[in-house]
Amino acid sequence: MANTVDKYFDLVDQNQQKFIETLREVVEIPSVSSDASKRGEVVRMGEWLQARWEQLGAQCKRIDPGKQILEGEELDLPPVILGQYGNDANKKTVLVYGHYDVQPALLEDGWATDPFTLVEMDDGRLVGRGSTDDKGPILGWLLCAETHKQAGLDFPVNLKFCFEGMEESGSEGLDAIIVDQADKWFKGTDVVCISDNYWLGKNKPCLTHGLRGVSYFHLQVEGPGADLHSGVFGGTVHEPMVDLVHLLSKLVDTNGRIQIPGIYDQVMPVTDEEELTYENLEFSHTALATDLKHDVIIHAEERDTLKHRWRYPTLSIHGVEGAFYSPGDKTVIPAKVKGKFSLRTVPNMEPKRVAELVTAFLEKEFAKLGSKNRMRVIETHGGRWWYSSPNHPNFVAGARATELVYGVKPDLTREGGSIPVTLTFEENLNVNVLLLPMGAADDGAHSINEKIDRRNYIQGIKLLGAYLHEVAVTDMTA
Ligand code: BES
Ligand code: ZN
Repeated sequence: MANTVDKYFDLVDQNQQKFIETLREVVEIPSVSSDASKRGEVVRMGEWLQARWEQLGAQCKRIDPGKQILEGEELDLPPVILGQYGNDANKKTVLVYGHYDVQPALLEDGWATDPFTLVEMDDGRLVGRGSTDDKGPILGWLLCAETHKQAGLDFPVNLKFCFEGMEESGSEGLDAIIVDQADKWFKGTDVVCISDNYWLGKNKPCLTHGLRGVSYFHLQVEGPGADLHSGVFGGTVHEPMVDLVHLLSKLVDTNGRIQIPGIYDQVMPVTDEEELTYENLEFSHTALATDLKHDVIIHAEERDTLKHRWRYPTLSIHGVEGAFYSPGDKTVIPAKVKGKFSLRTVPNMEPKRVAELVTAFLEKEFAKLGSKNRMRVIETHGGRWWYSSPNHPNFVAGARATELVYGVKPDLTREGGSIPVTLTFEENLNVNVLLLPMGAADDGAHSINEKIDRRNYIQGIKLLGAYLHEVAVTDMTA
């Protein structure tokens, strides 16, 4: 194995520039799943991946999950690309998942360069939307397989893959496909690996064994039949926006404490044993404050910041649809507004219970306002949290691979973000799932100037390959 892996590492080093060009090619496809006008680009990105894997000899199955209504338009959901590369009964089978859709990005959001053009900076940053989330990592699997084939190196496992184009928009249609294909396309899977999260800091790699869930809500307040002039109607009608602002202000205090009664009742207490897992991690408030560009950190202790990221629920307010938000002044009373907020959930919170508590609380608060407007709470999606023991051999393989590439033992982390499909795989395929991140803490996923460092991208391609080689020689039944 050592010989093959060394050769593979050498080839990755030799091909660095070519791999960056491949990343450039896919960053140029603006596969924004939340934008109806970009749906064709999302589909094009899925087709690009399928074509490239098929060229390599993989067997692919394209599943079109159906339709979606977006911005009043009926759209085809982008394809889920399932694949099988290699089918040798003597090898283990690893299933990898990734998403080829990206978050929206506009130059005017504050990007220093065009978001859909990959720019290589002098300091090694490869800047572009999707570079770290999740195009770099999904290319990692492809480039690993291509490199093995070109050099005539034996590919260590049978690889199955599942790439979707709706992750950033709640993975519509994906769960049903996984349930349906569990005994078909996914049959024979030994372990799952997902590379769609980030290191805790900038230097030390990690393996991740927990994610928070997310319950997303729209709080709609509707009043008059049309927008009104505030000079004529202000002070004489119940204003939807005023009601909404009152209600939103009741959800969470300025120190991040959720104000909805009962929410913390379902949270599992932190055990003494768990406290130990917060020791010696590559995480500092100084580095975090630098990444934030301004120190807005609530907690005094690093471990409390991590607990509030990984271990406790949080509530964030995202925006208001229907409100006036353009530059300049407009004396309007909006007729109908929708406040958007979400809770990140942790063990043992149940999305159904969360939705009940949120709805009951908002209804009670709305009743107190004595408003004649109409209010509705809509839960748009509720993805569950995931927590797994890091003692499984799949994690041992991930740790060995990390040591081989980076020369250090990885930190064990959990994440504040969500990848709801993780639990769907674990529950329906009955196999262990490892989260093996490629990017670093300061990559700025979802933000402006998203990047992956050249080092993380190139070493990451090695890491994913090394992991497959380690799986091949690790007893997964232990
Ligand atoms: N790559 C992220 C998941 C993630 C975010 C992992 C932060 C670790 C830290 C993924 O693309 C994502 O953003 N997921 C959404 C899921 C949601 C739409 C259900 C998220 O977390 O908001
Ligand atoms: Zn992602």
